[in-house]
Amino acid sequence: MTTLHNALSPQLHRLITQMPKAELHIHIEGSLEPELIFALAQRNQVQLPFESVDALRKAYAFTDLQSFLDIYYAGASVLLKEEDFYDMAYAYFERAAADGVVYAEVFFDPQTHTERGVSMQTVIHGLVRAGKAAHQQLGLECKWIMCFLRHLSQDSAFETLEAAQPYLEHLLGVGLDSSEVGHPPEKFSDVFQRARQWGLKVVAHAGEEGPPAYIWSALDQLQVARIDHGVQSIHDEQLMARLAKERIPLTVCPLSNLKLCVYDDLNLHPIKRLLDLGLCVTINSDDPAYFGGYINDNYLHTFASLGLDERDAIAFAKCSFEASFMTPSQKDHWFSKLDELASKLGAV
Ligand code: ADE
Ligand code: ZN
Repeated sequence: MTTLHNALSPQLHRLITQMPKAELHIHIEGSLEPELIFALAQRNQVQLPFESVDALRKAYAFTDLQSFLDIYYAGASVLLKEEDFYDMAYAYFERAAADGVVYAEVFFDPQTHTERGVSMQTVIHGLVRAGKAAHQQLGLECKWIMCFLRHLSQDSAFETLEAAQPYLEHLLGVGLDSSEVGHPPEKFSDVFQRARQWGLKVVAHAGEEGPPAYIWSALDQLQVARIDHGVQSIHDEQLMARLAKERIPLTVCPLSNLKLCVYDDLNLHPIKRLLDLGLCVTINSDDPAYFGGYINDNYLHTFASLGLDERDAIAFAKCSFEASFMTPSQKDHWFSKLDELASKLGAV
């Protein structure tokens, strides 16, 4: 990874770390740090296939998405009680707030837990309680997006949606994640239609490792408002033109793409090209405990590798609010704050 020493001016470093921002692509199970995995394993008497925190960390040498998911699901096996979900989520909120995150739309994967006999109520109550505490104690507002695991069937997704019906007031929307290639978005057309009928927002991972065709299908078959990752759109001019024209945001996760070998080096990442082509592109952490950094690490490494500046920092932060499901007046509030910051710095 790029060494950050001297790569960014102190002014740019300060702007990135201190500016208000929204995080829109974070899997809460991907925020489970190895130390917490071991603490929860001990608390819950769960046997882990790793000897120590160090041995677990050493296993974080991924070659592609699947090699990561295998370890990610093993890590999540320590989550059994409401308190476990609370502790995991609150730890993320503390780190995010320290990074200037004022608003987060957070993914969770209930099937990872319900398949092990943990109830939907346990999962949602723990997460929601942590979200409320974060709002009160850290001033960070959070909303929850329930993801369907795309390597499982649409029937399983329907069962999950039905199990979540009593908790709909706590859900902002639904998403689609897990192993992408071989599981195109259209596999889930019917369950996404039901979710939309229930008034839920819909988003989907597409074009992380999968082809641009999966992004078209997420747009046309699932009617998503936002694409998670979407970096493979860089290979399809017509698709980029549509994403730009319709301002359909991409929630990009640069360190994730690096760790999962989508790009061999961050200086090859297309995020700046996508921004310059007029797309609404955001910077996010995806699974920060596994990929070497939280949201500010993603900003800092991307900026150092691609030689980006203050104007880009403000642009990405503005995109993060534009791409969110906040109300228009909330968005305007944060746009003004960022405009004030920019004019103080002479950045725009
Ligand atoms: N689940 C957690 N992280 C993911 C990613 N990067 N892609 C797909 N599914 C995921
Ligand atoms: Zn993701």
